[in-house]
Amino acid sequence: MSFFARLRDWLSGLLDPEPPMSSLPDLRIAVGTPVQEASATVRPGARPGSATQPGPGAVSQPARANAGVMAISSQRTRIHAAFDAGMPVEHRAGLAGRARELDRLVEAVLEHGKHGIVFGARGSGKTSLSRVFGDLADEAGATVLYNLAGGDIDFSELCRPYLVELMSIPGEGVRRIDIQPLLNAPFDARQVASILAEKVRRPTIFVLDEFDRIENLATKTEMATLMKLLSDMRSPVRIVAVGIAANLEDLIEGHPSLRRHIVSVPIGGIETEQLKALLLRCCETAGMTIDDAAATRISRSAVGSPYHLRLFGSNCAIAASRAGQDHIDDAVVQQGLVDAYAEWSALSPRAAAVVADIQRLPKQIATAAAVICLAAAMRTRIERTEVVLVLDEDGHDDATIAAAFAALSPILHASAIEGSYYFDDTLAPQFYLLVYNRRIDPTRIKTPGLDDLRTVLERGVRDL
Ligand SMILES: Nc1ncnc2c1ncn2[C@@H]1O[C@H](COP(=O)(O)OP(=O)(O)OP(=O)(O)O)[C@@H](O)[C@H]1O
Ligand SMILES: [Mg+2]
Repeated sequence: MSFFARLRDWLSGLLDPEPPMSSLPDLRIAVGTPVQEASATVRPGARPGSATQPGPGAVSQPARANAGVMAISSQRTRIHAAFDAGMPVEHRAGLAGRARELDRLVEAVLEHGKHGIVFGARGSGKTSLSRVFGDLADEAGATVLYNLAGGDIDFSELCRPYLVELMSIPGEGVRRIDIQPLLNAPFDARQVASILAEKVRRPTIFVLDEFDRIENLATKTEMATLMKLLSDMRSPVRIVAVGIAANLEDLIEGHPSLRRHIVSVPIGGIETEQLKALLLRCCETAGMTIDDAAATRISRSAVGSPYHLRLFGSNCAIAASRAGQDHIDDAVVQQGLVDAYAEWSALSPRAAAVVADIQRLPKQIATAAAVICLAAAMRTRIERTEVVLVLDEDGHDDATIAAAFAALSPILHASAIEGSYYFDDTLAPQFYLLVYNRRIDPTRIKTPGLDDLRTVLERGVRDL
């Protein structure tokens, strides 16, 4: 079987077996309506009807309902805590996959004394990996300091918190008098590198997260210079910069000699089996059980992304809770994925409009776009030549490939590196694949935001 034939099998198998579109629940009723909430007041695991037939000594109806609501709310609290898609992983035990990436970082930064660059798509797990790495470094005796970059920040503002923090750590070797001149006036990389090289004796790591958000080019250039100087001066201070791909590579491009002193750790997709193991762990923590087929379907739908896995998993668990059960089965997965899609499309209407348009694309173009989305989900960035190579094998001509890029162009942008692209909404590729595989029918999903606007307008018109 040709590679492309296998790829196509994989694509269509992401959500096998394909459900008929007509079996989707009508979301105009389902999304957050009281009908759903009413059934949810039955405690998970309770026998059907038990909430409405009080036995001897049973508590009164309102008290029972209250207890049911409390049980549901504590179950949902557990679900949200277990699946939390908003919080980075803090401890090694919570990190799925990534053994190779961690090894690479530990070996290069802790053992070889290089600086690190951790890059990947939004939500791919960069902060999680750098936190767990920080934990390991701390255990190995290094001092690890975190800071977040952002916006128009200048180099001195970015570095000063590290210096202030170092000053407060006993035994670190940096005294107030050493850094006094840098506390109130701007300084450059050379000044700070000299102090760090002279004073700091212990292995020390500055983790700089969200590096890509720095808009000020001079700040990035100074940071690259600082890395180079620290290496040249043999300082035990190392910098680990964390961010999305393009901007970090800008950093190396401006300073080719930095390459020797840096390890770059791309954060790509996680294998489905590891995502599935993570899902099972989250379910267990949430006090829920799950069918094997349902777990496979959720893990495949996440296409390599731990963020999507948690998002889909929590929506499925909440859908189960709404249905009054603490078990996730196929029916619940279908509802959960639809809920996740509805939530995303309400927050990202522009990306959702592009994804919904897939149904108007000729099949060949839609498939080419699906391959672009797969590349985005599994790799840190999309290389046009790689995508073209894969599609050529299946006889997709240049015009089809160009049409696929054009169809995605409102949300797919050329990066600073020639021939490579990125999605501005990095959640979009997985949702495109859900629609491509006919798991979601966007035309049946009514965005809550639009609903509200219509209600408002109808009210306004009535009042005229
Ligand atoms: N390896 C992993 N195992 C388990 N969960 C993970 C893993 N990586 C990330 N996650 C989960 O995915 C979500 C996003 O992770 P994280 O915040 O680390 O990503 P990020 O790449 O730093 O995102 P952003 O680009 O928005 O800063 C979090 O809920 C986190 O718990
Ligand atoms: Mg992050």
